[in-house]
Order: sequence, then C-alpha cells, then structure tokens
Amino acid sequence: MAEERIYFYPVFIRLWHLINAILCLILMITGISMQFSNPKYPLIRFDIAVSIHNIVGILLSLDYFLFIIGNLISGNGRYYKFPLRGLFTNLKLQLTYYTKGVFQKEKAPFLINKERKFNPLQQFTYLLVMYYVIPVIIITGIAMMYPEIFIPATLLGISALHLTDLIHIFSGFVISLFMFIHIYFCTIGKTPISSFKSIVNGYHEVHE
Ligand code: HEM
Repeated sequence: MAEERIYFYPVFIRLWHLINAILCLILMITGISMQFSNPKYPLIRFDIAVSIHNIVGILLSLDYFLFIIGNLISGNGRYYKFPLRGLFTNLKLQLTYYTKGVFQKEKAPFLINKERKFNPLQQFTYLLVMYYVIPVIIITGIAMMYPEIFIPATLLGISALHLTDLIHIFSGFVISLFMFIHIYFCTIGKTPISSFKSIVNGYHEVHE
C-alpha cells in the first residue's frame, strides 16, 4: 500500500523557509518603499527603509547559507536535480493540469513519492529561484552596499551602478512574482491547506 504521509520537510527546511518568507516580505515592503518613495509622503522614511533593507538583506543571506548547507548535508538538494530532457513536455503537462485538469477533478500527471518530492513545475521554479535568482540578488545587493569596492564606474559604456541596481530590482520582481504564484499553487493539494500544514509539521499528505 502506498504511504499516506511522507516526512519531506526536515526541521532545517521549515526553519529556513519561515525566516526566508518573513525576510522576503520585509525586503519587498522596504524595497517598494524606496523605489516609489515620495520625500513628502514616504511609506517608510527613506533612510529608515534603506537601513532595514540592508540589515534584513544580510539576514536573508545568512539564512540562505542554512538552506544551501542543509540541502548538501541532508540530501534534500537531490530533489532540485532533474534531467533537461523532457523538461518542456513535463512543464506543459503540469501547467495544463494546474489550469484545466485540477478543475475537472483529473488525476495529477506526476504522483508524489519518496523519489519525487516536487512536480516538474515546482522543481523548475524552486531551482531557478533558489539556485540562480537568490544568489544574483544577494551578490548585487552586497555590491551596492559597498559600491566603491565592488562596482566600477562604467560597464559597456553605461553606469555600472545603474546596471547592478537594474539587475537587483528585476530579481526582486521575479522573486515577488514567484512568491504570489507559489502561494496560489500551494493551495492545490489534498486539501487547500494541506501544503501549508506540511511546511509546519513536516509531513506531506499524499493524494492522487
Ligand atoms: C508567505 C510566504 C510563503 C508561503 C505561505 C509559502 C508556502 C510554502 C509551502 C506551503 C510549501 C510546501 C509545499 C511545497 O513544497 O511546495 C513551501 C515550500 C517551499 N517554498 Fe515557500 N512559501 C512562502 C514564501 C516563499 C519564498 C519567498 C520562497 C523563496 C524565495 C519560497 C520557496 C520555497 C521552496 C524552495 C520550497 C520547497 C522547500 C523544500 O522542501 O526543499 N517560499 N512554501
């Protein structure tokens, strides 16, 4: 008989995830406040928003180390590896399920078991965000904290600081977009709240 509950979320993942989600929300709010700040009516006073953003950015970077090292030691990192062959077809199958099949009570195209923790769409987006976009946002953020050390005056004929800032903001936009879609997709499980329970108690509830 297939298992009904699988222990997928060890303590370090739950701890990392909780801290990461809170810090990302603070970074989004302070980031948006700085981006659209009106000196007369700021959401958060500019200098305060900058200080909070810097401190929280450093905390997020430390938390990211917990994720990377924990993934290496615990073996959770293996769920982020997948073959490129067939990726496009698998992504299409999963997207069709999310946009159509789920409403017609069809079976999920990829069943979750001990070998497969994530469906292809989760695998692809989690890998992209956690192993590419987060490192880019951390590196560009640290570079902008110490521009005199890390950023040359110009690059390819344009201001290198401006370019670094653009990459940083674009990465922030990607992470924000990911977070909203991620939370919506987390409601598609055995019940609308079962994934949220999993990231609290560690156990994934298997469903067809
Ligand atoms: C309030 C915000 C958030 C909520 C409510 C939330 C919710 C969840 C839930 C329910 C899961 C377990 C289901 C699953 O494996 O897909 C999960 C896993 C995950 N979340 Fe989030 N999330 C939030 C923010 C974020 C952010 C900001 C990121 C990354 C920047 C993120 C990245 C991940 C990753 C990578 C996993 C899989 C972790 C693993 O098991 O290896 N989440 N999230």
